Amino acid sequence: MIVLKLGGSVVTEKDRDETVDGAALDRAASAVATARASGAVDDLVVVHGGGSFGHPHAETWGASTTDGVHDVDGVTAIHGAMTTLNRFVLRALQDADVPAVPVHPFSAAHRDRDGALSLPSGQVGTLLDEGFVPVLHGDLVAHAGEGATVLSGDEIVTSLAASLDADRVGVCSTVPGVLDADDGVVDEIRRFDDVADVLGGSAATDVSGGMAGKVRELLALGAPASVFDLDALPAFLDGDQPGTTVHGDGSGTAVDGGH
Ligand code: IPE
Repeated sequence: MIVLKLGGSVVTEKDRDETVDGAALDRAASAVATARASGAVDDLVVVHGGGSFGHPHAETWGASTTDGVHDVDGVTAIHGAMTTLNRFVLRALQDADVPAVPVHPFSAAHRDRDGALSLPSGQVGTLLDEGFVPVLHGDLVAHAGEGATVLSGDEIVTSLAASLDADRVGVCSTVPGVLDADDGVVDEIRRFDDVADVLGGSAATDVSGGMAGKVRELLALGAPASVFDLDALPAFLDGDQPGTTVHGDGSGTAVDGGH
């Protein structure tokens, strides 16, 4: 089973609010369709990020993975933007003959007072068994003591990869992998310390932590995770490990400073 994250900045135009990058989305959908048709990919869960749909609204309402929103208008705006983007992603996949169906994390997940996430996976597993491609998305999540906080697509990937025992994880981003100080792609990461210097520790380029947050989440996985760009998506789906491969420790817990 493969869990594939399509980064928000891949499928949306990050500088224009609520704008889909239709060409990129179609390329991703066609890569998924081709890999399924050839038999290279069987069970697949897709998770997409927020890009120019989720993040601007989250910023407007001051919502992050730790700071919540109680205002119903804020919840409606942030969750609504994400379900709108989800419909675009579903349509692109369905147009390519991929049996994509929606799963909205806000309706199922919660965090406790310590921020620990509980995301049931029975629905996703059953949809897979029935031949569907479940498509989840970064969202809001009920958070004890905070109202609703941001749930990043990376957290969803980590949680589902563990609970559904994924064989491989792919994070399709706008960069060809995790870059070193000379903009070369780092082949492998085994500890956050290996890349802390180039990722700038807690540097956050969006409300859910940018590349540093991604790597921290992926280091908690038991399955190898590849970070690559859209050009390399067909290769990843074909079984290669393009870009950067993050070898997690299977702890299920993001390292200190994670989200
Ligand atoms: C963010 O999801 C979801 C919201 C802002 C509501 P991600 O953090 O996974 O989005 P990208 O991939 O960075 O855009």
